[in-house]
Amino acid sequence: MANKILVTGGTGYIGSHTVVELQLSGYEVIIIDDLSNSSSEVLKNIEKITGIKPGFEQFNLIDKDKTEDFFIRNEGIQAIIHFAASKAVGESVEKPLMYYRNNLVTLMNLLECQIKFSIPNIVFSSSCTVYGQPDVLPVTEQTPRKDAESPYGNTKRVNEDILRDTIFANHQLKGIALRYFNPIGAHPSALIGELPLGVPQNLVPFVTQTAAGLRKELNVFGDDYNTIDGSAVREYINVVDLAKAHVIAIERLLNGKNKLNYEIFNLGTGTGVSVLQIIKGFENATGIKLNYKIVARRAGDIEQIWADTVYANEELGWTAEKDWKKLYFRHGSGKNM
Ligand code: UD1
Repeated sequence: MANKILVTGGTGYIGSHTVVELQLSGYEVIIIDDLSNSSSEVLKNIEKITGIKPGFEQFNLIDKDKTEDFFIRNEGIQAIIHFAASKAVGESVEKPLMYYRNNLVTLMNLLECQIKFSIPNIVFSSSCTVYGQPDVLPVTEQTPRKDAESPYGNTKRVNEDILRDTIFANHQLKGIALRYFNPIGAHPSALIGELPLGVPQNLVPFVTQTAAGLRKELNVFGDDYNTIDGSAVREYINVVDLAKAHVIAIERLLNGKNKLNYEIFNLGTGTGVSVLQIIKGFENATGIKLNYKIVARRAGDIEQIWADTVYANEELGWTAEKDWKKLYFRHGSGKNM
């Protein structure tokens, strides 16, 4: 019988790509998502890609009673991948309480259920945001975490601590925190991708929606950073590469290959790219001129970050296959990125 994996936030951007990779690797997947930033159409499109309909329940994990009831009704789950969270840096500065509630309470409810219902494994969706603005680049997993620049970043840092402390106190639990750099791109089928509801907060969906005429213009937040061209530098990683890393992390836990009960891996490509380079790269790849203007820096943003990927490459046995220039810019309708 296939191992059963719960994917929270499984209709979201990284979640949906991970569900596809899990199903293609033979796992049975059940999704919990409140559809606050995604659509149930994603479920049909996952089925079109894999031929398998994932299990699905719609609710917010803040609701402890519903969460417990879910686990009572769904026996035999071996592992959880926890994506469900609010994720916009700028929005989190304006709505800190919403971010703390959404992101912290949900993990705590899940961990309590893991203990109560004996579900031993969890993969947690963390972020490079826990490094704040690092003093030394690239960042390794040993780079000290800093006070985050935004409430969003803080929720990831505190959630890592909640996870670590809970695992240390409960020897039956094992967990892996994956610190992603910025995911972009879409599944090659173009059936799933980054499909935020409303106005996108992240760079690449804004780029593609501007190109498609859905947005009038793109704001570039700051050109006075101490970087190659003054715009902020991030590391962009293909979402399918990222999804595959989750399958490897799940296999590591299920097969007992983990070295510690709580492990951390950076998931990136090792290359920093500026906002203006992304814009030029998009224009070169598509031939579409983007209407953009430079505006003030965005609250909560850092200047630059990119990853040292050696530990993930060697210990996890995972390497990003695509670099940022091959990241499916062609799905530029705004519907699929
Ligand atoms: C942050 C996290 C990242 C996380 C993501 C989730 C950091 C360093 N990174 O990404 O790990 O996965 O949130 O949402 O905290 N930009 C513009 N114009 C726009 C939108 C963005 O210029 O319309 C710029 C931003 O100022 C930033 C870059 O593009 O410099 C990337 O921004 P975004 O895509 O929002 O992701 P981060 O905030 O870097």
